[in-house]
Amino acid sequence: MITTNYLIIGSGVAGLTFAIKIADRFPDKKVTIVTKSNADESNTKYAQGGIAIVTDETEDSYQKHIEDTLICGDGLCNVEVVKMVVTEGPKRLKELIAWGAKFDKTAKGNFDLGKEGGHSQNRVVHHKDQTGHEIERAILDQVHQKGNITVLDHHFALDLLTEDNQCLGAFVLNQKTNEIITFQSDFTLLATGGIGHLYGHTTNPIIATGDGIAMAFRANATIKDMEFIQFHPTALYDTSIGSKFLISEAVRGFGAYLRTKNGNRFMLDYDSRAELASRDIVSQSIDLELKKSDDKCVYLDCTHLDLEAFIKHFPMIYERCKSIGIDIAKDWIPVVPAQHYLCGGITVDKNGKTAIDNLFACGECSRTGLHGANRLASNSLLEALVYSDKIYNYLADTAFEKKDLNPILSNWELVEKPKINSDYTATVKTGLQLLMRQNAGIVRYETDLHKAKEQLMQWQDELETILKNNQISTELYELNNMITIGNLIVQQSIIRNGNKGSFKKNN
Ligand code: FAD
Ligand code: SIN
Repeated sequence: MITTNYLIIGSGVAGLTFAIKIADRFPDKKVTIVTKSNADESNTKYAQGGIAIVTDETEDSYQKHIEDTLICGDGLCNVEVVKMVVTEGPKRLKELIAWGAKFDKTAKGNFDLGKEGGHSQNRVVHHKDQTGHEIERAILDQVHQKGNITVLDHHFALDLLTEDNQCLGAFVLNQKTNEIITFQSDFTLLATGGIGHLYGHTTNPIIATGDGIAMAFRANATIKDMEFIQFHPTALYDTSIGSKFLISEAVRGFGAYLRTKNGNRFMLDYDSRAELASRDIVSQSIDLELKKSDDKCVYLDCTHLDLEAFIKHFPMIYERCKSIGIDIAKDWIPVVPAQHYLCGGITVDKNGKTAIDNLFACGECSRTGLHGANRLASNSLLEALVYSDKIYNYLADTAFEKKDLNPILSNWELVEKPKINSDYTATVKTGLQLLMRQNAGIVRYETDLHKAKEQLMQWQDELETILKNNQISTELYELNNMITIGNLIVQQSIIRNGNKGSFKKNN
């Protein structure tokens, strides 16, 4: 057993920024981060567009950012939360800069602000088209400098350790030794990110399997708004299953047009904001166009844009296109919508507290009320920064209570068991991804959702038995978690009536 004062599960922007602050505040306390891959692997690392923050109050204002967020959320945002998150942005940006993150500036020394769908102003602070990479680099560097933070990479959190609605830590699999370790902690933070791999076609890296939400669900936390899945309109089209390269929405903010194969700039027919309508509207419009034409993709036309300025702003996108033979000065980029973000998750209050004592959640795995039915572009990094600070402030004033761990709980999994054949997990995973794409995608049908629910329940029962009788492994646990998340999405989609934001259901 390992004891720690703060156990943080996940090493993206949410987990790492909390770790830095709490470690500084309590230099004599132990902070432990467990993370299931390399320490920098996360959705955070792949963020392109940037962070939506009001930095220039001559053109922009908090009120405009608040209104844009509320419009995008289609009436389901928590207004108080929106106000809180938007107005705290500048302070959180200063901290990131103090930790060494660099953001692009204009020749006059102001932030070079990008624009994305749903934003009425240019307000997206960025580091070229690799904002997440820069943030992850800077904060991980800070974390490594703190003597009281231990980072355990390749450690997969299996389940929370709870008793009487209190979180006492977590069970964690050391993926290199296959040892299961019980972590006892005073406070636990779930910062496990998104769910993309449930859909197969996703902009998310392979780590996004919804583990934290599934763990919290098993521990009886409240999980809400799972039906609000955000599909990004412009993932680079290719025929393989797996993570898709993103063509940032900021490219449309820079002036790129969406066209059908025949050259029709179809977004003009759907929304007066055209390519810069919010993401739900653009993805749903592309979906309709593809169904009408039976084409496999639409195209992003950058041929009319200033090439030099484009390369300066989007060097990674330019190079990636070039590497597959697309010269953006002459060729259109083939794009399709792909799963990108989960608006719902573990319900937390304004201090990031879940329904379980001493358990907090932050970042993409949490549901704060900021996004409502659809997240405004570049509000996710902002939400994680603001809420990790909220949790830090709350815990900075919270006294520790000595807890004793029931010894039976720490004897988890000592018996030797057979290993499950990996063909089984691979087959069910592929089936699950197809099921989710077909039945719980951009447009859902009531009958499909019911069929999906039946299949998911069957897999869930099967997995329950398999987990009892076989050796625990990351792939088995991830599969079980993804099935749990699939069930939550499908069941909450069945319950919701009426289309809202990213949720569209037909009878
Ligand atoms: P993550 O950064 O995903 O970190 C989760 C961590 O938890 C990872 O370290 C993971 O390994 C770990 N983990 C998961 N399960 C376990 C487990 N069982 N045990 C141990 N560790 C575990 N948002 C914006 O605001 N602006 C953008 O420009 C932007 N661009 C994006 C571009 C792409 C391609 C993608 C995929 C997302 C983008 N987003 C953007 C969304 C944003 O990046 C994420 O929502 C945000 O970074 C999530 O941060 P997080 O800390 O909550 O989770
Ligand atoms: C993008 O750069 O298009 C992604 C921005 C986001 O998800 O907020």
